[in-house]
Amino acid sequence: MKKLFLAGLAFLGTLLTFAAEYKVEDWNFEARKKFAEQRFGVYFHWGLYANYAQGEWYLKDGKVNEEAYSRMMYGFYPSKFNAREWVKVVKNAGAKYITITSRHHDGFSLWPTKVDDGYNIANTPFKRDILGEIAEACREEGIQLNFYYSLMDWHRKDYPAGYHAMQVEVPGRKGDYASYKKFMLAQIAELIENYKPGNIWFDGEWEHVKHEEDGTWTRKLDWEFDSIYDFIHSKKTLVANNNHQPIRPKEDIQLFERDLPGEAAGAIFSANQPMVNDRPIEQCDVIQHGVWGYKIAENRFRTADDVVALIVRAAAKNSNLLMNIGPDGSGQLPKKAVEVMEGVGKWFAKNGESVYGTSGCTIALGKDIVSTRKGRDLYLHFLKPGVDEISFKIDGEIKGAKYLACGKELPVKVKDGVATVKISRPKDCVFDIVVKLSFK
Ligand code: GLC
Repeated sequence: MKKLFLAGLAFLGTLLTFAAEYKVEDWNFEARKKFAEQRFGVYFHWGLYANYAQGEWYLKDGKVNEEAYSRMMYGFYPSKFNAREWVKVVKNAGAKYITITSRHHDGFSLWPTKVDDGYNIANTPFKRDILGEIAEACREEGIQLNFYYSLMDWHRKDYPAGYHAMQVEVPGRKGDYASYKKFMLAQIAELIENYKPGNIWFDGEWEHVKHEEDGTWTRKLDWEFDSIYDFIHSKKTLVANNNHQPIRPKEDIQLFERDLPGEAAGAIFSANQPMVNDRPIEQCDVIQHGVWGYKIAENRFRTADDVVALIVRAAAKNSNLLMNIGPDGSGQLPKKAVEVMEGVGKWFAKNGESVYGTSGCTIALGKDIVSTRKGRDLYLHFLKPGVDEISFKIDGEIKGAKYLACGKELPVKVKDGVATVKISRPKDCVFDIVVKLSFK
């Protein structure tokens, strides 16, 4: 146990001193630590694409004319939208924060921004400031709010299009990065000023690609991230970038898209991302199969057990889990997603201490049994029925062991410094079964 404990301290220590290029200031250190302790957040992908109900890439993948697509702005009226209801679902699920698409690839902004060409919520018949209402509901409920912000844009004429944007026809588009950057910084300033998000979460840098076949670039673009990150940091806000690349010194959170940190299981996105141990990590994933934005014909949703297993497996790797829901065009969350979140909340109500504020742990890091730890406590998560026993070396003395959900104690055999825990899956302990081992 001593070893585990020291590894935990090392993690916090490196947060403080990780890069010579960038001094982590106190506010930043605290914000990172707070973010990592939260462990579970809910992601929302919402915008005009919710009305088309074909996922958030519909404009490009559906080969839709941009001018025709953007007219949906005049038909966007999500009469059932209720920020308090959304935030209640999040809170009851046990999540501690929300990340929402302030502006996705289609270029439409969900707040009444003053700095664009009018392509934003203020010019819909709905008019209401969606981000503002969510921010207020979050404040009331003690939920942290963060903003996804797309770097790639399928609407503006000054965006220097890369591989994907080039496939969306925007009449008169003349890439002018200086102009586009000015616009982005003005929007980000508004977002931070108006709604005080915890982090700005970038996405889309990956569209400026180098082709493997012949090494040519679709378009090379210097985003000048250093100055963008300095600007965001000057406003005491964290930065994350879902670029599928090794993390840069000024990025505060390492992101993994649909892959557990370090596993590169899907290998499409994270194959190129060595996992760091000096900063918080966040994995994002989908609840509705294969899409982030709502898709009407997709009935495959993750189960609550699936979501819990993902959260726990991420936590065992020192990572947060950001689980996405795509609300529909009426402003409602899909019923199935709400049911799943209720199931997740039941698990958290009894087992939350084995996730919040814990550190990852390498004991039995596989798919079926994983572990987390906090102080002198070790939490063993038995994720698969039938895989009910584990032995591991200990360095210390065990005080006691119990099922976390129902409080029943269980015996732990210790022989020659090796502890063996065997569970019996009591009926009143809901999945996953967590055993809490306390050390003296
Ligand atoms: C991908 C997709 C995007 C989605 C994001 C979620 O990068 O392009 O649609 O918003 O992942 O993090």
